[in-house]
Amino acid sequence: MSVIDIMKNFGEFYEPSDIEETIEEIIGSEEQKSFLHDFFQAINVINTMPEGELPFSITLSALLVGPPGTGKTTLCKAFAKHYKVPIFLVYADSLIGSILGKTLNNIRDVLNAAHTYAKNKTPVVVFFDELDAIASERSSVYEVGEIKRAVVTLLQRMDSILNSKDPIAFLGATNHQHLLDSAVWRRFCYHISFPFPDVKIRKQIINNFLEQLKSSSNFTIQVSEAQIDSVASEEVTGGFTGADIKRGFQIALLRALKDRILDNDKLSLSLQSAGGTKTHIDNEKRMSGREQFDSGQNIQNNKTIKGKSNLKAKKVL
Ligand SMILES: Nc1ncnc2c1ncn2[C@@H]1O[C@H](COP(=O)(O)OP(=O)(O)O)[C@@H](O)[C@H]1O
Ligand SMILES: [Mg+2]
Repeated sequence: MSVIDIMKNFGEFYEPSDIEETIEEIIGSEEQKSFLHDFFQAINVINTMPEGELPFSITLSALLVGPPGTGKTTLCKAFAKHYKVPIFLVYADSLIGSILGKTLNNIRDVLNAAHTYAKNKTPVVVFFDELDAIASERSSVYEVGEIKRAVVTLLQRMDSILNSKDPIAFLGATNHQHLLDSAVWRRFCYHISFPFPDVKIRKQIINNFLEQLKSSSNFTIQVSEAQIDSVASEEVTGGFTGADIKRGFQIALLRALKDRILDNDKLSLSLQSAGGTKTHIDNEKRMSGREQFDSGQNIQNNKTIKGKSNLKAKKVL
């Protein structure tokens, strides 16, 4: 099996020419883009530098942190295309095996394959997407043994590969910085935050989708400037990611198919029905807080309400 075939077992391997994403399609994120320019440029530059030219080594590993739908994966692929570096997108959860020892072997296989590829002096970026799927398990009370060893292996192999000076760089993406083990956190040299877009960026994203619709002569756009300001506002799209706004426009497009008209009402209703990721995350947090609160109350109720089961005690609440 070729090294590329091995990599494809755990994710996707893209040659730059196969990538369609562009840097421009992610609006805003200027600081993040500026960092990624430096990072991707460094991969190519370091590769051609004579030994000993740098006073100390540069570690090419970075962690991208932010809620889902803020453009992390898209930008990594787009930069790989722009700088003509192949990118190996590893789905972290594909590494977790059900048989004892399997996760460890998977991690070894993946990293060895990527390293073998880079040893031929072909630069490659290894991107661990949704890293929290594996890394957050390390401190979990349920999986102390296997996952812990697997994460240690991952970090050690990453370090030794980076020290080998072969042209390889590591990127990781996570939604939950707080779930990541501190060792994982430390091991990535740079941390880049991808926050929810602010009102200015949301307006640009909305305008960009409207422009795309306008440029297709199939649709009549009857959306006023005031309405654009209104839907970009905190009240309508506060806590929306770029991906949420995109979904809103997909809904709007669906609603506009009949008469080929997108007006103020359709746009605002579609964005509202798409809903924002922040509300979703907050609800999840509230639910898990509520569960803890409920179970705390149940213990109390068990003490006070004699003979009632947890279930009944819950109903009493
Ligand atoms: N800032 C943005 N501007 C425009 N589109 C965006 C933006 N952020 C996200 N999107 C849209 O959402 C899609 C999904 O983003 P993705 O890269 O998968 O996010 P993540 O990896 O952070 O979960 C992108 O392909 C893009 O169409
Ligand atoms: Mg992603």
